Amino acid sequence: MGNTFLNLALLIIFHFSMPTFSMKLTTILTDQSALLALKDHVIHDPENVLTTNWSASAPVCNWFGVSCGSKHRRVTALNLTGLGLVGTLPPHLGNLSFLSLLRITNNSFYGRLPVQLSNLHRLKYLSFGSNYFSGEIPSWLGSLTELGGMSLYHNNFKGVIPFSLGYLSKLQILVLSENRISDLKEKFLKEDHLETTQSNHLRGMKPCVVQLDFMFQTAKLDLLEIPRRRKDKLPTQEDMIPLGTWRRFSYHELRQATDGFKDSRLLGNGSYGSVFQGILRDGTIIAVKVFKLELERAFKSFDVECDVLRNTRHRNLVKVISSCSNDLNFKALVLEFMPNGSLDKWLYSNTQYLDILQRLNIMIDVASALEYLHHGNATPVVHCDLKPNNVLLDEYMVAHLSDFGIAKLLSEEVSMIQTMTMATFGYMAPEYGVEGIVSTKGDVYSFGILLMEIITRKKPTDEMFAGERTLKSWVIESISASLNQVVDPKLLSTIGREDLKVENYALSILQVGLECCVELPNERLQMKEIVMKLKKIKEKLLRDMERVR
Ligand SMILES: *[C@@H]1O[C@H](CO)[C@@H](O)[C@H](O)[C@H]1NC(C)=O
Ligand SMILES: *[C@@H]1O[C@H](CO)[C@@H](O)[C@H](O)[C@H]1NC(C)=O
Ligand SMILES: *[C@@H]1O[C@H](CO)[C@@H](O)[C@H](O)[C@H]1NC(C)=O
Ligand SMILES: *[C@@H]1O[C@H](CO)[C@@H](O)[C@H](O)[C@H]1NC(C)=O
Ligand SMILES: *[C@@H]1O[C@H](CO)[C@@H](O)[C@H](O)[C@H]1NC(C)=O
Ligand SMILES: *[C@@H]1O[C@H](CO)[C@@H](O)[C@H](O)[C@H]1NC(C)=O
Repeated sequence: MGNTFLNLALLIIFHFSMPTFSMKLTTILTDQSALLALKDHVIHDPENVLTTNWSASAPVCNWFGVSCGSKHRRVTALNLTGLGLVGTLPPHLGNLSFLSLLRITNNSFYGRLPVQLSNLHRLKYLSFGSNYFSGEIPSWLGSLTELGGMSLYHNNFKGVIPFSLGYLSKLQILVLSENRISDLKEKFLKEDHLETTQSNHLRGMKPCVVQLDFMFQTAKLDLLEIPRRRKDKLPTQEDMIPLGTWRRFSYHELRQATDGFKDSRLLGNGSYGSVFQGILRDGTIIAVKVFKLELERAFKSFDVECDVLRNTRHRNLVKVISSCSNDLNFKALVLEFMPNGSLDKWLYSNTQYLDILQRLNIMIDVASALEYLHHGNATPVVHCDLKPNNVLLDEYMVAHLSDFGIAKLLSEEVSMIQTMTMATFGYMAPEYGVEGIVSTKGDVYSFGILLMEIITRKKPTDEMFAGERTLKSWVIESISASLNQVVDPKLLSTIGREDLKVENYALSILQVGLECCVELPNERLQMKEIVMKLKKIKEKLLRDMERVR
């Protein structure tokens, strides 16, 4: 008995200490032997690159195509593009534990991908395009959770797209074209990644760009909005820049792109500075956020925003294309342009209108972004300024959270901090407004207010809210009386949707909103739970819509 217990305890200790133990043991020598194994597995090297350059007498970090981290001097990138190499990939590559970029595009590698590559947990970008790899697309690729870009085009992969790829929540680009993928798994496309709305319009879930095989799946893909957009524009190298390595622009280039920061290009002014629309020489439309540097606040805001955006990537966060910092005189961020503007604009427009599904999708998008910020990184990020103005919509009406100018990075040990920076009145949690306490719970509160605003189309700062009466108390009052008084009349009067009982969904959403807004921070829901609740409401809505149709 005692012995069994001891064995069990030892087993547990062994089990948990093993990964750290083996991690510590790997060194640059491990990296070197992994690369030498690759060299051994290359049977033809027409340009004699590996043969002459990859020599054990030179430091690994100086080898052709190899890059190392500046601090730890371990191999972080392996880029062997277009060298005409023929061979297979050895399992040893799985020992390159610091690797974040693996690119062997346009060679003649063949055989299967070794399962040991699933150990490359830091991998952000992987490209095996234009080779002769065969076998099924391995399902273990789904365990490389940091992947932002994966390209397997033009190989001999066959079979199905593994379901596990759906777990790659940071994946922005997936290119699978020109393979022998015979069964385009309906489930992968339909339920988990793309969905139809009433207008019979497909909306991308994730990843942002899925490229399959145009030749093979034309008929089906023509139904999809996403690949159609990209059909003429294949993802370029720039689409796939790994995290932290932004393309750089000079002040001059940004000036040109925005027509000299002309007023007609102004998208909006904020306390930090202004946002302009710009067009790059290659036709890409961008948003340029220029910081007012005479304000110390704006100066800090630039640094914080860069910090947050450099370290995060999620489909519901606005993507940074570059930063531009011309010493002390000019600081700007170049962001992806969001053609459909802010949620604020949509909610309060007299001509545009969002239906219940669109509103719910936007809520889920924002909630997913917050879940990622709060729980998806070692350092939780608190947005601190959630409001409809900071929720931007792309051309597919997918919502992206923006403006991290007053965001706070919490350390692992500290779950709340105190600050003097003030967020927007009306959306701030009470503990933030009164004592300046910042924690993820404050974002939850603001999110609750946002939910109520999206359903009622009333700002928390509306003049009807004065004295004791707030948006929250008004919703509480009305939920128990007659709900129709609070719900946006536009939402209820949807023609052709009379059977849908929109008010029931509105009610469920308002209840989630109220649960986010309880006074005591610790009693508020977590973003994870909120995402789940909203998704459940949406599932029910979709079923209902199916039935009504
Ligand atoms: C190997 O290639 C790198 C990069 O091109 C070069 O800097 C280095 O001098 C080469 N080393 C040898 C031994 O040829
Ligand atoms: C990889 O190498 C090729 C050719 O040397 C180069 O054009 C490309 O920019 C490199 N890519 C990355 C991501 O380093
Ligand atoms: C692929 O690499 C070969 C050299 O091996 C080169 O001639 C060719 O232009 C490359 N193709 C592309 C599309 O980059
Ligand atoms: C690296 O990987 C290979 C094969 O997966 C293995 O045999 C070897 O022991 C590993 N460790 C080191 C330190 O090279
Ligand atoms: C926005 O700010 C810029 C620079 O501070 C100023 O020139 C411009 O008039 C402002 N525009 C609006 C619409 O407020
Ligand atoms: C969003 O913007 C795109 C591009 O400007 C436009 O084609 C699309 O119709 C807009 N979406 C909606 C729902 O209006």
